[in-house]
Formats: sequence, structure tokens, C-alpha cells
Amino acid sequence: MASAKSKILPLGTWIGQYKIIARIGKGTNSNVYSASIVDGNHQKIRALKVATTGSATEKLKKEYEILQKLPDSNYLPVIYGYVPLKKDKHRVDGGAICMKLYESKNLSIKIQNTTGKMLGPIHGSMYAAEMLYCLQTCHNAGIVHCDLKPSNFVAPRHKCWEHQISVVDFGESQMIETAGNHFVGTSRYGSIDDHDPNKKYGPIDDIWSFFFIWLHMAACATTWIGRFVGHHKYRSKMFDAKSKFVEGIATNASIHPQFRQCAAILKKGLTKRIYDEVRDCIYEYATDHYTKARPRFVRYI
Ligand SMILES: Nc1ncnc2c1ncn2[C@@H]1O[C@H](COP(=O)(O)OP(=O)(O)O)[C@@H](O)[C@H]1O
Ligand SMILES: [Mg+2]
Repeated sequence: MASAKSKILPLGTWIGQYKIIARIGKGTNSNVYSASIVDGNHQKIRALKVATTGSATEKLKKEYEILQKLPDSNYLPVIYGYVPLKKDKHRVDGGAICMKLYESKNLSIKIQNTTGKMLGPIHGSMYAAEMLYCLQTCHNAGIVHCDLKPSNFVAPRHKCWEHQISVVDFGESQMIETAGNHFVGTSRYGSIDDHDPNKKYGPIDDIWSFFFIWLHMAACATTWIGRFVGHHKYRSKMFDAKSKFVEGIATNASIHPQFRQCAAILKKGLTKRIYDEVRDCIYEYATDHYTKARPRFVRYI
């Protein structure tokens, strides 16, 4: 079988009316390219998500169906359509999802590019608050994302406000009503219940993933991330580490009280107001750090 690497489309390849410019992202079963299209007298640049294998093409079609159920929102990818592909020497039969082009540095790359491999409490929390808006919008539309991780958040190239992000990659997403109990997302960010094959996946699991991402982004505060590589093999170890972490959150003095406060809200379970309550907590946490960081500078003004 050809490797995913051999499936990288050469620059200049035509996909329908789109001409490939560069590969800007890659996932497990897909490559994302920037591509240009001539529209009247204007040239527009968009993103194309192209499956790398036959089975990935089926997933891509399902992803497109889910994307069509989502509302127009600043927090969700803007979708322009599905471009069918003909079989040729570069790829199997398939298609491409055409989307708005976002920054090529996803949130995972942004985190990796910082010196401490974390964004810190202010920026990390501001992104986290934006993430909750992304989730709220999906859940209100009846969809659970099921694969939340920093690499699935991208920022627009022209931002309307700082920390603006959209959630992408609905390849594992499901309708809340019919969601199954087989977790297929990324274990390190999965909720504790995700490790239980008898539990049905729901919005609360997305929120737990969000919570783990937030701790990771803001404070690098999770003990299992980076330790258990080859996550499927280490699922039970990761489960133990996560359980201990969540249990210990109420007593662990090294964790900021507001993280504890958020964890307590999350532990109570999913309520209609969870997004707003947690968001308030996050803003409070970020502001608290912001005001603590400021006196050093304001003293001299
Ligand atoms: N519309 C987009 N604009 C810019 N980059 C994108 C866009 N969609 C996805 N990406 C980038 O491509 C990467 C892979 O896309 P993703 O949808 O996550 O694929 P997979 O389902 O294979 O994980 C993402 O991590 C992100 O960095
Ligand atoms: Mg992805």
C-alpha cells in the first residue's frame, strides 16, 4: 500500500477548478492544502482537505455531511463545498472539502513554538474561553466533536479580535442523539469516561477534553501529556494518571484555586449554563493573573 507521504499532491495539481499552492497541514488520514481559484477577475485562496486513502475518503464524506449541519459561526470553519476527485496517478478516487483558509500554525504549533511549551495563564485561558464558544456552538447544533486537541483549533488569517479561533476536523464527530460509546479521538485529551467502553459519548466528554487542553495550554499542568507516547498502548496508564489528577485537584496546592473551582463545576456534570459558568471562571483566572503581572510595570508609569 502506498504511504501517506507518496500521496502528497504536487504543487500546481488541479482539483476541479482549484490549483494546489502548498501543503499547509496534515492529519492521520488527510492532507490540507492551500489552493487558488479564479472567480471573475479575482483570485481567491482557499483550503482543501484531501483524504489520503480510500477509507479516509468515506470518512471525509461523513465529515462533510456533519459540517453541513453546523450553523454559520465565527467559531466554526467556513465551508464552500465538496469537490469530487477523479482517480489518477496521484491518488485514489475521492474528494476534497473546500474551506476558508486559516493560519497555517494551528494551536498545537503555537504552543510548541513558545519557550516553556505553554502559553501561560493569560493567553492560555483566553484561548480556552474562545474554545468554549466553539464547543457551545457545536453542541447547540446537536453535534459532539469527539476529537478535541490543540491541533484541531486554527486562527483566522484576519482576526476580528485577539485569541479568535475556530474548531476544525469533524472527522470523528457524531450527532448527540445517536452518539456511540466507542471512543475514537485522541486518548491524551479524552475524558475519564472515554476510557470506559460502556459509556456513551456526550457533550460533557468534549468539555472534559477542553479542560485538559486548557490545563495543558495555560500551565502545562497535566502529568500524562508527553509521558505516554503511543497512546493506545498506554490507555490504562493514562486513565490512572487522569483519575489521580482529577481526584487530587481539590487538594493539590500547586494547582491554582480557580482551576479547582472549574473542576468542581465540571464535576457537577453538564448543565445548560456550564459554558457560561466555566467561561466566567476562566476570565476571572486570566484577569487575576493579568492584574498580578501588571503592578511591576504600572509602578513606573
Ligand atoms: N481550513 C483550514 N485552514 C488552514 N489549515 C487547516 C484548515 N483545516 C485544517 N487545517 C490544518 O490541517 C491539519 C489537519 O487537518 P484536520 O482536519 O485536523 O485533518 P485530520 O482529520 O486528518 O486530522 C490541522 O491540524 C490544521 O493545522
Ligand atoms: Mg486533526
